[in-house]
Amino acid sequence: MAERTGARGRLVAFEGVDGCGKSTQARLLAGRLGARYTFEPGDTELGAAVRALLLGPGPAPSARTEALLMAADRAQHVDELIEPALAAGQWVVTDRYSGSTLAYQAWGRRLGAAALAPVLEFATGGLAADLSVLLEVPAALARERLGGSDPDRLEGQGPDFHARVAEGYRELARLDPNHWAVVDGSGDVDAVAEAVAAAVELRLGPPG
Ligand code: TYD
Repeated sequence: MAERTGARGRLVAFEGVDGCGKSTQARLLAGRLGARYTFEPGDTELGAAVRALLLGPGPAPSARTEALLMAADRAQHVDELIEPALAAGQWVVTDRYSGSTLAYQAWGRRLGAAALAPVLEFATGGLAADLSVLLEVPAALARERLGGSDPDRLEGQGPDFHARVAEGYRELARLDPNHWAVVDGSGDVDAVAEAVAAAVELRLGPPG
């Protein structure tokens, strides 16, 4: 993972419903770009503790608490990992970012984007993704990909919740097409990886 001097790195976020395949695709893109792969929630030491509170078997947070814990994880992630990497000229591919809080908490939990926008601004210190890639898959395929694995707290929400999350993502991409690329995630892994790489290069150009 060569650090590049001079230019600041770019931040690419992968977004989508549970089971859309974004973790696989985020790793593949990071490998292809020589970028740092990272994820939310939980890719810092403090964040791992926050992730356990959010998704583990303990007491369920209320909707606002859930949003604030996601934001706290993100603030630590930005300060400790993302911003230093970008400042050093490295590209960063993050598996989920602010789009997830909007889709899951603003739409899914119905907290509303207007309420969460200032929270996200504060949590990120104003650092927006250069590009968010929305991997779109039909709900039935996402469920099939999740398979019989034990669902975490959010995966275990009902179909109405997940339908609202998917709708939120579509709205986010529709409202801000300069910062969102929608890629069909229903093909095989290699075909989707090619489509993702083409979309990212078209918008951001080659790294370095
Ligand atoms: P993720 O780690 O992508 O799922 P997986 O367990 O498959 O690796 O995300 C964990 C869950 O957290 C997922 O259901 C989405 C949810 N989430 C939010 O609700 N809001 C957020 O801001 C983020 C980052 C994740």
